[in-house]
Parts: sequence; structure tokens; C-alpha cells
Amino acid sequence: MSPSEIRLPDYRDFAPSVAARFDRIRTRPVILRIRDLKKSFGANGGTHVVFDRLSIDIHRREFICAVGPSGCGKSTFARIVAGLDEASAGEILLDGQPVAGPGPDRGMVFQGYTLFPWLTVRSNVMFGLLMSGKAESTAESEAREWLDMVGLSKFEHSYPHELSGGMKQRVAIARALANNPRILIMDEPFGALDAQTRAQMQHYLVQIWKKVDVTILFITHDLDEAAFLSDRILVMGANPGGVREFIENPVPRPRSAAQFISPEFLALKKRLEHHIHPPVEAEAAEKLSMIKLTEAGDEVE
Ligand SMILES: Nc1ncnc2c1ncn2[C@@H]1O[C@H](COP(=O)(O)OP(=O)(O)O)[C@@H](O)[C@H]1O
Ligand SMILES: [Mg+2]
Repeated sequence: MSPSEIRLPDYRDFAPSVAARFDRIRTRPVILRIRDLKKSFGANGGTHVVFDRLSIDIHRREFICAVGPSGCGKSTFARIVAGLDEASAGEILLDGQPVAGPGPDRGMVFQGYTLFPWLTVRSNVMFGLLMSGKAESTAESEAREWLDMVGLSKFEHSYPHELSGGMKQRVAIARALANNPRILIMDEPFGALDAQTRAQMQHYLVQIWKKVDVTILFITHDLDEAAFLSDRILVMGANPGGVREFIENPVPRPRSAAQFISPEFLALKKRLEHHIHPPVEAEAAEKLSMIKLTEAGDEVE
């Protein structure tokens, strides 16, 4: 069965709120326009094509998740949008302007903790503000507001090593948002956190996104995470690399863990799973060499 044969429930039938939300999203301006993006590595134009002809439009304040198997080019894609890496071909327009190199209009949060260990939490958030020429007192009060937004006011004088992993990532989010980016690019930001903290961070992020005028491009290989967070999901594949599908998430908002067993959540996940982990066909399984290393009488069931 191909992924497209797994029918997603049509949200237009069962959830008018979802249909209305997508209608609203489509009327918003396109903030990020990507056309025929290609990335290859290797000498003379490259032998290893990571992805090719990647074209998408992302609307203002959309929450986009990009998923795909390890090595399919998710981080490469994120880095190119961030301006940290160069595309081999194609075009990226942010608010109509071509992206060339990093800029304050894009904030990044990575999986690894990237706070400056020698600076306090508040100074970490103030760093970009001071770099952009803001006065110390303005930077300080703005940093306080952002720390309040991520619920870490009490920790403004702490150092990163005194914080848990989840708290560090909340500071990283505050630091990225403090510069007022048009788009926040997050590359597996919760990948190193335990399951419970991760779920908590997903809730925090949705709350923050609701309050801030920012568009989010969130990279993950966790399908539950993508289904919980996203408006649309960009499914990337490997061998050959590229966009497999760009799916509208049919799960109504506001979302909660209770929806993880709803029919639309499960159908969405099943479809994503077919892209990411295609089922091993019985035929293929039969081809595996089955060397028996156990004795008769110790069969497993
Ligand atoms: N600097 C590089 N030089 C050569 N190949 C690279 C480089 N960076 C990434 N790649 C290759 O590009 C592919 C995509 O990598 P990456 O974007 O990190 O994937 P993902 O984040 O989806 O796991 C991989 O096959 C990787 O080996
Ligand atoms: Mg990666």
C-alpha cells in the first residue's frame, strides 16, 4: 500500500473548525517562499543530491513541521533557510527578499544547548539585543519580558549549568524570539529531553507561538510531536531525497494528549509512518537469512 492510499479523514466533513482555520491561514500573506531548492554535496556540482526541486509556501504564523528519516536532509534544509549553508540551486524569499546569509529576521534553536555558559540567563537573552545596538536598559527590560513569557523570571540571575535541559531550551527560545525574528527555525530542539519534559515543552511552545507574531519551521523525526504541533507537515524522504508530501494536519486545535488516540490523529500518524518507516514486506522478510542459533525445544512464540 502506498502512503497516498491511506486516506486521511477529510476534516472538511467532520471538523468545520479545522477547515475554517486552513481557510484563514490561506488568506494570510506568504512569508517564506521556497522555489526549486536543491542541495548536493561533492565536487563539481555534486554527486550526492540531498534534495531537489523543493518548493513550498509558508504563510504568516503557520506552524510547519518537517519530518523525515535520519539523513534525509532536514538539518541541511533548516541551515539553508537560516542562511548558515548555501543551496546548490533554487531560491528562498523571506517577506519577498532573497535570503543570503544569516539575519536577525530568522531565529534558530538547535538540539544541543547553545547558551553561553559564562553568561547569566538574562545576559544570554540580552546578548542579541545588545548586538543589535539596543541600550542596556532597554535590552534588560525586554529580556525580562521574554523570560516572563517562557516562565523563567525567577532564574534570570542563574547560569545555564544550574538549569535543567528543558529550562535551557526555554531560555534558547526566549533568546531567539527576543530579536523579533519573522521566522523561528527549530532543529530537533527537544530531541535530547526525556519524554515527559518533551511533552511539557511542546505545550509551552504552542502557548508561546499563540502569543507571538512568529512563523515556525520545526524539524523533528518524532511523528507524534509533528502531529501535535503542526498546521502542516512537510514529509521529506531519502534515496532519492526530496519532498514526499506536504500534509494539512486534520487534528483540531486546541490540542491535548487525549487526541493521541483520536481517529484523525491515528490516520495522520499511519500515513506519516508509511513514509518514514515503510512496512517490511513479507517477501523481503523471507529473503533474510535465518540462521538458527537456538536448540530444539526453546521456541519463542
Ligand atoms: N558538509 C557536508 N558534506 C557532505 N555531506 C553532507 C554534509 N552535511 C550533510 N551531508 C549529508 O547530507 C545528508 C543530509 O544530512 P542532514 O541534513 O544532517 O540530515 P537529517 O538532519 O535529516 O538527519 C546526509 O546524507 C549527510 O551525510
Ligand atoms: Mg538533523
